[in-house]
Amino acid sequence: MTANELRRLYIDFFVKRGHKEIPSASLIPENDPSVLFTTAGMHPLVPYLMGESHPLGQRLVSCQKCLRTGDIDEVGDATHLTFFEMLGNWSLNDYFKKESIGFSHEFLTQVLKIPQEKIAVTCFAGDESAPRDTESAKIWGDLGYPKEHIFFYGKKENWWGPAGTTGPCGPDTEIFYIHDKPDCGPNCGPACGCGKYVEIWNNVFMEFNKDKDGNYIPLGRHNVDTGLGFERAFCFVNGVSSVYDTELFKPIIDKISELTNTKYEPNNYKAYRIIADHLRASTFILGDDRGIAPSNVDQGYILRRLIRRSYRYLTQMNAPANSMANIAKVVIEKYKDIYPELERNQEFVINSLNREEEIFSRTLESGMKIAKKYLENVQNNQLAAADAFRLYDTFGFPLEFTQELATEYGVSVDADGFHKLYAEHQEKSRAGAEQKFKGGLSDDSIETRRLHTAAHLMLAALRRVLGDSVMQKGSNITPERLRFDVSFNRRIEPAELAEVEKIVNEAIADAVPVECKEMPLDEARASGAIGVFGDKYGEIVKVYKMGKWSNEICGGPHANNTGELGRFKILKEESSSAGVRRIKAVLVQDK
Ligand code: ALA
Repeated sequence: MTANELRRLYIDFFVKRGHKEIPSASLIPENDPSVLFTTAGMHPLVPYLMGESHPLGQRLVSCQKCLRTGDIDEVGDATHLTFFEMLGNWSLNDYFKKESIGFSHEFLTQVLKIPQEKIAVTCFAGDESAPRDTESAKIWGDLGYPKEHIFFYGKKENWWGPAGTTGPCGPDTEIFYIHDKPDCGPNCGPACGCGKYVEIWNNVFMEFNKDKDGNYIPLGRHNVDTGLGFERAFCFVNGVSSVYDTELFKPIIDKISELTNTKYEPNNYKAYRIIADHLRASTFILGDDRGIAPSNVDQGYILRRLIRRSYRYLTQMNAPANSMANIAKVVIEKYKDIYPELERNQEFVINSLNREEEIFSRTLESGMKIAKKYLENVQNNQLAAADAFRLYDTFGFPLEFTQELATEYGVSVDADGFHKLYAEHQEKSRAGAEQKFKGGLSDDSIETRRLHTAAHLMLAALRRVLGDSVMQKGSNITPERLRFDVSFNRRIEPAELAEVEKIVNEAIADAVPVECKEMPLDEARASGAIGVFGDKYGEIVKVYKMGKWSNEICGGPHANNTGELGRFKILKEESSSAGVRRIKAVLVQDK
């Protein structure tokens, strides 16, 4: 089976059962200060899981690009990845446990033809937040799963979410493939991690919202959120034991082999896999329409670490200059039909990789000399945090990079101390600016809704003042302030900003209602609505119109009337990355 076939089989299966396909959203979450990347298919659906109506209805299905860095140290083995695709289906307060479990059972046993006796499942054991999920267990039992294959676990194993600090979550039932292996002991089961049971699918019954005080509040809605790891399932349906042995990675592995003039064999599996995984992830981050470039903060810093680590492995294997960009080209070729943004942004991907390579290669040599000195003089077999931090600060050595060097000297690194220094440094370099992680997951507070409404007015005003080339590249809104990135290739002058501010405040004084209409994308475009992230919502879109001031495709939520916003004030304008300007603004409530 090819990768495309598996994606199609999944989507078609659910479309036939009343689901509407939604395209993958950006890898960089919109309006969500609590996470850096989209980590699951549900992420772009948070407002709809919380209660907003989705223009495409209550049953959705997608293949979503995701990134998780929690397992980065595991990358190099057969199955762990940073970037991955997640197949998912959703019920937005429509069907619940019976249908959801039934669909999963049918897809796995009838479509993928996995023998039922090779499947085990887990259910939530119950605690103070929610009762024991005997309902799911009974549904599995009625489908013919024996008691020995139905396990119960607590919150740690059988509760999923929220994706960030707050938001929708709930008990789940997880589905595992049982490998032909003896039990590892009397407690062998899906939770023991011995490798006999491998998770395939997670069905979450999202009936709760975790608030900022850590309480689980019933949502009053019975949503279902599921996630099937695409690469894992793909390796599994093809009977191979490593994701790197599938067609998804084969051309990337071959390219590394060609560039390094080495063979992909057990003694260099780890290096190959790290390079392949990290550069695939980097290509997807750079190739996203949000235009994230390597930097020392937030997503840019994760990206930088992925690139630099790949670079070091490639250099150790004597790869020539610009190898990273050459590998990225292979990734783009492999994925461009499914993710056309990669091809659209190819030039940015290639240039960014080459630029980062140039910057890093310049300091690498001198940094290595200093690192060597430090490592030869460590006390108590541990490299001091201050030394690791100096290698980072002066030479751009990411922590993992220093840790790997340290391993070669048989010493460890004071990682906790490093993180502390890093956090202090970030605090300082933000010069008392916003506290990024304070807010919750795109909360529905009135302040956030007002700022989101102001963002629409500001984008329209920017386009009036600076021209139609100005497009939104990203936004991040907390109840306190709005941060907004737009495409524009020079500084926006103070007089221009003042003009934008004036227009937005006129729109507020005009006190027009914020009207929302659902319509086909074509109609929305014909009406002059600007589509910020083009194809995100599929065919039917929501258009928010504010009198003559703004007309934009968006998912909400918003204030009801522009008159509610207060006074709009731009605090700052700065460069965000090449061709992208970042604006920070607030709404002042005068009363
Ligand atoms: N959101 C769930 C997960 O990521 C399905 O496992």
